[in-house]
Amino acid sequence: MNGCWDYGPLGVELLRNIKEEWWKAMTYRDDVEGLDAAILMHPRVWEASGHVENFTDPMIDCKQCKARFRLDTLTEMISDKNKEKALKEFDSVEGETLDDKFTALLEKPETAQKLLDIINCPQCGNKGAFTQPRKFNLMFKTFLGPVEDSNNVIYLRPETAQGIYVNFLNVANSSRQKLPFGIAQIGKAFRNEINTKNFLFRTREFEQMEMQYFVKPGTDKEFYDYWKDIRIQWFKSLGMTPSKLRFHDHPADKLAHYAKEATDIEYEFPFGWGEIEGIHNRTDYDLSRHQQYSGKSQQYYDDVSKEKYIPYIIETSAGASRSFMAFLIDAYYEEEVKGETRSVLRFHPKLAPIKAAVLPLVNKDGMPEIARKIESDLRPYFKIFYDDKGAIGRRYRRMDEAGTPYCITVDTQTLEDNTVTVRERDSMEQERVSIDKLVAYLQEKLI
Ligand code: GAP
Repeated sequence: MNGCWDYGPLGVELLRNIKEEWWKAMTYRDDVEGLDAAILMHPRVWEASGHVENFTDPMIDCKQCKARFRLDTLTEMISDKNKEKALKEFDSVEGETLDDKFTALLEKPETAQKLLDIINCPQCGNKGAFTQPRKFNLMFKTFLGPVEDSNNVIYLRPETAQGIYVNFLNVANSSRQKLPFGIAQIGKAFRNEINTKNFLFRTREFEQMEMQYFVKPGTDKEFYDYWKDIRIQWFKSLGMTPSKLRFHDHPADKLAHYAKEATDIEYEFPFGWGEIEGIHNRTDYDLSRHQQYSGKSQQYYDDVSKEKYIPYIIETSAGASRSFMAFLIDAYYEEEVKGETRSVLRFHPKLAPIKAAVLPLVNKDGMPEIARKIESDLRPYFKIFYDDKGAIGRRYRRMDEAGTPYCITVDTQTLEDNTVTVRERDSMEQERVSIDKLVAYLQEKLI
């Protein structure tokens, strides 16, 4: 069950805030509508989409210990000594990086076998004990209804996109949108990944935030470039370090079965660059296939040009869980403060799980009562944390670790003039704010 994660109280707030910011950025505009489609869909949808046939990963088993691996993780299994040896043996192979070379080798059965022969199984250590690579479909299957036979097999969706395609005309007609326009959806997706790895990076159950933008054929390149720019800006606008973000364009021979052009937005994780969002020009592939498999026209009537055609689709497909991990890692800092190490999560205030903490300096002299009143006044607007236990310094540190942007402290001066100190997380600077101005003060900083 590794690769299944539960989000705790702080995690779920961060995840919800990321999804909320995405939802606002993508649907609070006049050319994008929202949707929440079912996870279980007709199995023919996945035939039409190409997933039944093509959504596979090559897999190998160890004959000795029966451990199972994704073929493309093989390079990680080869020891450095063996890597040198392997590369010498396969000197003539083309490819810029080691990974490219190994991929090229694995694509040909004769060289694949030779390569597999020199690799030790990471689980039992046996050399050359691998089976031939075989294809493994990544869709989770289950049965619809009580009878568990092949006629009742259905799939958990491996992407949210298809729910949007099959609803394209419903949404176009009911919202009276004209091309170009988009449909956005956030939801769970499931992939029976052979190996899960790197915390939330590759899991079997995860969440996607996808938007499909329907355009007139011929204008697809323009909108592909437009959405690339919008999407990378979104990560930057929420504080992600620009130098840790880049595009990785897919070379023509590596494109997915549906794509004409594709790029990944990558983040530099501690384990290397990894995709957090894919942007694809999916052409008219999806709607044409749904038309073919459902027998229902997916054509759009363009009342400007008076033509009927199947729109092209530009897709932006972000992982909510992968974005979560990238935002979390990006925000993490350790720094020296007065001879001690302070761990701080420098979340953008919009993403921070807790927006403000209310802290009475001491648990007496009427301070807790004032602090409780402030807490209840702020609660309707923000996620607030109340803490009256322990030294104030330790309480600040705890909030730094949770990434709380503001700490509001009730102290002796509060008793005299109804002001509190507001401490900002990153600069640790404090200013005095009148209690009756707190809501407006925080609103200005947080919204
Ligand atoms: N509809 C297109 C599509 O699903 P994808 O590149 O396979 O494209 C899009 O997935 C995004 O979904 C990825 O950029 C990643 O953020 C996320 N994702 C894909 N597989 C994942 C997994 N096993 N675990 C976590 N996130 C995943």
